[in-house]
Amino acid sequence: MRDDLKIRPRRLRENSILRDMIRETRLDPAQFVMPVFVTGGSGVCEEMSAMPGIFHLSVDCLDGELEAVRKNGVRSILLFGVPDTKNAQGSSAWDESGVVQKAVRYIKSNYDFLVITDVCLCAYTDHGHCGIVDEEGRVLNDETLELLSRVAVSHAQAGADMVAPSDMMDGRVGSIRKSLDEAGYSHIPIMSYSTKYASAFYGPFREAAHSAPSFGDRKTYQMDYHNAGTASLESALDMEEGADILMVKPAMPYLDILKTVKTETNLPVAAYQVSGEYALLKNGITRGLVGEEAAYEALVAIKRAGADIIISYFGKEIKQLIGKFG
Ligand code: PBG
Repeated sequence: MRDDLKIRPRRLRENSILRDMIRETRLDPAQFVMPVFVTGGSGVCEEMSAMPGIFHLSVDCLDGELEAVRKNGVRSILLFGVPDTKNAQGSSAWDESGVVQKAVRYIKSNYDFLVITDVCLCAYTDHGHCGIVDEEGRVLNDETLELLSRVAVSHAQAGADMVAPSDMMDGRVGSIRKSLDEAGYSHIPIMSYSTKYASAFYGPFREAAHSAPSFGDRKTYQMDYHNAGTASLESALDMEEGADILMVKPAMPYLDILKTVKTETNLPVAAYQVSGEYALLKNGITRGLVGEEAAYEALVAIKRAGADIIISYFGKEIKQLIGKFG
């Protein structure tokens, strides 16, 4: 035996009771948010090709999914609309009988979920951009703000508990905050997609939400992933404008950013493990390339880096994952 080895970190890994005792990071279903895609029509329950286990659902088909989420101890959902009609302005986004508005009313009157709504135009515009567009194809910032505010107010009117703007226009948090306050919704929090990079990891989502831009890309409004500094700037701006919760998106390839944002703010920070992250893990697990524990490990890493809230498509199986690997 070597007598010069005084410090032996392995001592505290000796058995699972010790390991559990000193564990720093634990996942709790209460901190998870499950994304749910709602379509128009009825009887729609279509699994997405790139995202096994994730469905397009019409309002009448939501029950099974919501039950699965609830059984996993997840209390919050993030709603995305996949509307039947699209136009240049994306006006079905603020229609009081739009897909999201209908779904919110249904869920709030039948369930006990905290319902968060994604506020954006890309799934509702015929060109697929997150704002309105001029003749040259430029996405117009200030003109879009008013429309986003309308969407947020219509979600609050339908009964949403929280709104989550994901468009990345400058000033949208302040504009939405003002409109919500004026409409009598000063109690409704805003979870801002404050740090949202222009990422290739959104691919499966865009296919799911039919929201890929028909020309150009989102690089004039979503952030350049070569840069970390803008995360601090965007977070500070959204805080000043009245955001209640900040977000970093995507999650796993951006843990450095998540850690920085968490250190720089006193607000809760959400991390969004996006569609591409889920698709890679899920399909990798299904094909036996990695074990199921990789999904759990990825979520632990996101929490360890500083996420208070995790938005994840694994939400509807999180209890099993924690049960098996936690
Ligand atoms: C809408 C929006 C997107 C996502 C969330 N809200 C797509 C995009 O910005 O292109 C991505 C979510 C995911 O990939 O899971 N703007």
